[in-house]
Parts: sequence; C-alpha cells; structure tokens
Amino acid sequence: MLKDQNVLLGITGSIAAYKSVDIARRLIEKGAHVQVVMTEAACRFITPYILEAVTGTPVYSNLFDDPFSHINLSKEAHLFIIAPATANTINKFSCGIADNLLSNLWLTYEGPVLIAPAMNSRMYRNPVVKKHIRELNKSGVQFIGPASGSLACGEEGEGRMVEVAEIIEAAEAALATKDLTGQNILVTAGPTVEPIDPVRFISNRSSGKMGYAIARAALRRGADVTLISGPSSLEPPAGVSFISVERTSEMEAEVFKHLKKATAVIMAAAVSDYSPSETAKVKLRKKDEMLLKLKRNADILRELGKKKGNRVLIGFAAESGKDMNSASTKLKEKNLDLIVLNDISCEGSGFDVDTNIVTIIDRKGNVTDYPLMKKIEVANVILDTMLQVKGEKK
Ligand code: CTP
Repeated sequence: MLKDQNVLLGITGSIAAYKSVDIARRLIEKGAHVQVVMTEAACRFITPYILEAVTGTPVYSNLFDDPFSHINLSKEAHLFIIAPATANTINKFSCGIADNLLSNLWLTYEGPVLIAPAMNSRMYRNPVVKKHIRELNKSGVQFIGPASGSLACGEEGEGRMVEVAEIIEAAEAALATKDLTGQNILVTAGPTVEPIDPVRFISNRSSGKMGYAIARAALRRGADVTLISGPSSLEPPAGVSFISVERTSEMEAEVFKHLKKATAVIMAAAVSDYSPSETAKVKLRKKDEMLLKLKRNADILRELGKKKGNRVLIGFAAESGKDMNSASTKLKEKNLDLIVLNDISCEGSGFDVDTNIVTIIDRKGNVTDYPLMKKIEVANVILDTMLQVKGEKK
C-alpha cells in the first residue's frame, strides 16, 4: 500500500520524537517517499540532520525558508502522519491556527491524516485537549493511541505514543482501498494443540503467519475481522476481534459461535486431526517405549461446508508436492468455494517464513498459479478471489 506513496511526516516537540526516525525508515523500507516537516520544538529533541540522512530529502521546519513550502509540500502528499503529535499541535489543528510550517500545511492538505498523540497523561485528560481530539475525529482525522504505560516524566498513565509498528500498520490501512467494507470475515490461524499430559502435547507445525496476514489484509481493506488462533508468537493485528484457543474442539466451538455474522470463512489453521484418546491429569513418567492412542478430531471445515449458506468458504491444502487432485477432492468433499494449495516442500513456501507459493482452485475447476510472494500479498490475492466469488454468488 505504501509503495510509491508520498508521505508527509510531521514531527512535533515530544520525547517520542526520536521514534520518528524509525517511522521514516520503515515507511521508506515499504517503498514510500517521505517528506519530513518538524516544528521548532521537535528540533530541540532531535536534529533535522538525522532525518535528512534517513530520508535523503531536505527537512523543512521554518515557514519562511521557502515562500511556497506551506502550499507545495502538502500538494503531492497521499498521506499526512503527525507522530508524535503534542497537545499544542492537536489544539492548534483543531482551531485552524497556522503559526508555523506544520500547522500551515495542515490547512493546505486535503487527504487522509493520521495523528499519533504523545503527551503527559494529565495533559491528555485535560477537557480542552479531549474536546479538540473529538472535533478532529469528527472531521475525519484518524487518531492512533495514545497508549498507556510509563511516561518519559516517570509517571504512569495514558499518553505514550503507540509503537512504531502500529503507526506503520495504520498508514497501510489508511491507503488501502476499502473494498471489503460491510464484510465480516472469520479467519482461523496457527496450529491447534492436543495435550497428552500437563506438559506434553501433539500439534501441527504452523507459525500462524498466513492466517494473521489474511486477517491484517482484510482489516486494512475495511472488513470486520474475527481471528481465531491457536498458539502463536505473533501479535494479533490491532483492530481484529481476537480469540485465542488451544484445542481443535475449542477452535470448532468458537468458529460456530461466530459463524452467524460471518460473510466469509477462511480456514488457514493447521488443525490437529487427532487428539490423545486420554489426557493424563499428571505428568507421565518416561518409559523406553510409549504407545499413544489417538482419536479423530472433528473436521471443522467439513462441518462448515454443511452449514455455509451463502457464505464464501475457503480452505487451505498444505501438501508435500503440488498435489492438485488431493486439493480438488478436498474442495469438493468439504463443499468449499476456493481452496488454496501450497506445496510445503518448495523453498519459500514452508513453515515460519514470510513468503508463500500458492495455487488457487475454484469450484468451476479454474486453477491459478501464483509465484513466490510475501504472505501479505498472497492474502490480498485470496481476498480478491473471494470478492469475485461473492460477486458471482449474488
Ligand atoms: N481442517 C479443519 N479441520 C481439521 C483438519 C483440517 O478444518 N480437523 C481444515 C484446514 O484448516 C484446512 C483444510 O481443512 O483449511 C485442509 O486441511 P488438510 O490438513 O490439508 O487436509 P485434511 O482434510 O485434514 O486431509 P489430510 O490431512 O488427509 O491431507
């Protein structure tokens, strides 16, 4: 979303200003062109020089350095981020006071705006600040944070600038086409785990990266997203309804609990097909040999296929080798609309990597092969195909 986009990054006078260097760097990594504008106070916290080095572009801070900078810098921008934004700047924006370059640019800019406030919690609680945030919110400005925690002054409370990753995520979302608005997408991710005893379990290999990428992409595109995940070290995307589960039976229960409002279900989870017939209540002592009796778990996707109604149902087939027949059989037998086949033996398509190579098969037998792509790109392709199917179902 950020590739080739012009981002105007406003930095104001807060301790969190040092984090703006990282914001600029990450935006550039994503392919954005970043123009930094700093207030005079921001220049007391960090030097413009470091941002010039990071962005490779002159940093503007003085209104009178260039007679037209207050008009021209905002003209080409696709997104205006103010991070960190102080109470003073927020209040000025809300009142339309233009007494420095940044607040002038605010008046001349006409696109989407993200503000990441950073201030002492007592300032943030001040009714005047609250009122101006509400006013700006009403006029379409998006606020990210502030977060709670320990503040630079040593106090605890609400007022910290949110993490840089959250700002980048919000920037991606702000620039995405909202073609999934009104959709309610249920995504499963990660493995399910089945305990043998209180310390041992059986499970499937899965980092959850593909499912989390689908949830993130759907959210960016305007969908309401419920993410039901087995154990994963990943941070759920801010804004999804997140449900954490362990066992297949828990995942099944949560999926059916949330099915009613779903317009599409995407089962990216690596669901454990078996669980121990008995789970020991205390830790089992090791022996030279141990026989483990397993029982079949429910096939959640197959059950969904029986009750899917008008929903789009998407499954995954992780196969060792590009086994089209097996994937097509799963598509038919589980009554799916689409199946996403990935050959786990291919380089770049296995577990715990950020890329995938997939083939999408639909009910009509159309087969589309995709090259090695980032999981977030694969997620968007899946969502594009889902939208097509939705359109055909109408
Ligand atoms: N799935 C499920 N419940 C299960 C097993 C799998 O909902 N108990 C879902 C997965 O989330 C995936 C799809 O079914 O979307 C395919 O899973 P996969 O394990 O590849 O296929 P299986 O049908 O379990 O068949 P097999 O393991 O024999 O390949």
